[in-house]
This record gives sequence, structure tokens and C-alpha cells, in this order.
Amino acid sequence: MCGCVNFEMGDEGLPTLNPGDMIKQQYMVNKKLGEGGFGAVYMVQDAKTGQKHAMKVEGAKDPIQVLKMEVVVLTECMQRGGRHVCKIIDRGRNNIFNYVIMTLVGQSLQDLRKACPGGKFSMGTALCAGIQCLEAIEDMHQIGYLHRDVKPGNFAIGREENGEQRKVIILDFGLARKYLNARGQIRTPRSAAGFRGTVRYAPLNCHHSRELSRKDDLETWYYQQLEITLGKVPWANVGDKDEVMRYKENARRTGEISRDCPQQFAPIIQYIDGLKYWDAPDYNYIYGLLRQCMQQRQCREQDPYDWEKGGQHRNQTQMLPAPGYNPHAGAPIVNF
Ligand SMILES: Nc1ncnc2c1ncn2[C@@H]1O[C@H](COP(=O)(O)OP(=O)(O)O)[C@@H](O)[C@H]1O
Ligand SMILES: [Mg+2]
Repeated sequence: MCGCVNFEMGDEGLPTLNPGDMIKQQYMVNKKLGEGGFGAVYMVQDAKTGQKHAMKVEGAKDPIQVLKMEVVVLTECMQRGGRHVCKIIDRGRNNIFNYVIMTLVGQSLQDLRKACPGGKFSMGTALCAGIQCLEAIEDMHQIGYLHRDVKPGNFAIGREENGEQRKVIILDFGLARKYLNARGQIRTPRSAAGFRGTVRYAPLNCHHSRELSRKDDLETWYYQQLEITLGKVPWANVGDKDEVMRYKENARRTGEISRDCPQQFAPIIQYIDGLKYWDAPDYNYIYGLLRQCMQQRQCREQDPYDWEKGGQHRNQTQMLPAPGYNPHAGAPIVNF
């Protein structure tokens, strides 16, 4: 307990932290980095060490508490050798908000992709980033959790000053759910589940209010892969949730789901679509196809990524403003 009460409350029950505010007399707020469905993320600086970190906060009285899940998933992932997660540095609560302090990461894949011409990465970067995102999802599945909100805004790269620009990190476990029970068995699906996640990337099962499973994180990953490879998903301009669902279904019938993509994409989505709730996905089959695609396109895994020195879109991605609050970033829809 810190007991400090000199923080303002925002409109939605979220604390408004201002530059210079101190948390636990140790972490000084620098600026807001993001805000989503449940809380906000700030850059903070440790007054003792001078190190910069990220701090995610949620209102203490918010009926939907997500930070607990964030801590559980990050801790378990880290303990079990997760390859693509932030470290938890500290956590705590006061009478206004709960907070978690974690590794500060760099730009999100969404911001990076948008900075590139056509809103897409070069083929090599799209494929390598795709492999890393899938590894991050696989690691989560391995410890018994589904992410359920996979999208380019929930992945970021490490920071250049830490030499981690080639590492993709998975963020945001606010919608995560345990799919294994304490005995390590797959939980029985509920007969109906409300829509959760972000419409553009939602798997068909989510549109149909069905319980999600590992295959659904993969379907969502595939939509994200389309977006970072082509610059957009085919239903990018469709606003209505049910229309998006029909578009996704139709795109399977017409083949649009893998149109303009490398030839390996069609078998990937066909494989994912063939999986059932109980199935353990064969992640290696997908990595294999992605690597085959890399070979065919003469991309090498050690090539610089688009945002790195020597990368194809270094200049454009360098022009990105330092990460900061973007009020127009897509927030997930949640019905609890
Ligand atoms: N560890 C971090 N370092 C730097 N920026 C972060 C970090 N975690 C989150 N962010 C930024 O804040 C945004 C929102 O955080 P996120 O965890 O996705 O929460 P939510 O979307 O539920 O609000 C992210 O898209 C990212 O831009
Ligand atoms: Mg998010």
C-alpha cells in the first residue's frame, strides 16, 4: 500500500497521471504511452536507477480487473522460458489504482507497419515477424492460456538501446483465459460466450459466440499476417460486425482469404480452419510453410528487419514519433 492520494480521477474511473507524479516515491511518471479498453500505460523512470519502464494501471474500483491476469500470465510465461514477453519489475496498488511495472518496449507492429509504404512490411520482415508472433502465441498456449486479442497493436519490438530491435514481444493479457484446468486437461467449452476481442481480427467462432480455443488464436494470427503482408485485410473497410463475419466466411468460399498472398498462405488457413476446439495445433507445420516461403522469396532470417539499420523501410519507421498516446487506436469490444 502506498497510501498516496494526490492523483486525479479521470472521467471513466481511471486515474489521470501527470508527468512528474511519483509512485511509491520511486517511479516518476514521464508520459502516457497508450490507453485501451481497460486502463492506461505510462512511461515511468526509476528515480534510484534512472531506468525507464512501462507502467500499466487500472482503476482500483473498476469492476473489470485485468492486471491480475496480466501478472499471472507474464510471471508464468517468464518462469517457463517464454521467448517473447516483458519482465515484471514491480507491482502494487493504492486506493485509486492498481499498477504493474514492466520492461519498456518499443513501437508496436501496428505503428511500424503503418509507417511502411502501403502499410505493409517487406516480405522478409512480414514472415519473420509472423514467425515470432506465432512463437509468442505457442508459448502462451504451452502454459495453458489463450490470448484472445491477437493483433498488431498487441505486439511490439524491443528497444534499440537494449539491442532488442529484432525481438517481437507480446503484450496485453487483458482478455487472456485459461483453457486448461488444474489437472492440465482442456476445460469443457461453455455453450455460449460473449463477443470479446477486436472485430477486424476476430475468429469466426467469436462472431458466433462460441468458446474459443487455440485454433482461434491462430486464425486471428492469420488475419494479422494478411494485414502485415498485404497492408490490409480484405474486410478492412467494412464497419458492421456481422457484415465482417459474412465477409470472412465468404472470403473462404471465393479464395479471397489467401488472394495476392504467397502460395503457402492457402494451406496455412485451410489447416487452421480444419482444427477443432480440442485439437493441439501443429505449430511446426505453420513455421515450416513460412520458412519455405522465405526460401522461395530469397529472404534470410538474419536479414535486417524493415525498421533496423540497413532495413528496407528504416527511414519511414525512424520518422515515427516516439511512442505516445494515440486516442484513435482501436480498442477491443468486450461483453462480460
Ligand atoms: N511494456 C510496454 N512498453 C511500452 N509500451 C507499452 C507497453 N505495454 C503497452 N504499451 C503501449 O500501450 C498500449 C496499450 O497497452 P496494452 O497492454 O495493449 O493494453 P490495452 O490495449 O488493454 O489498454 C500498447 O498498444 C502499447 O502501445
Ligand atoms: Mg492492447
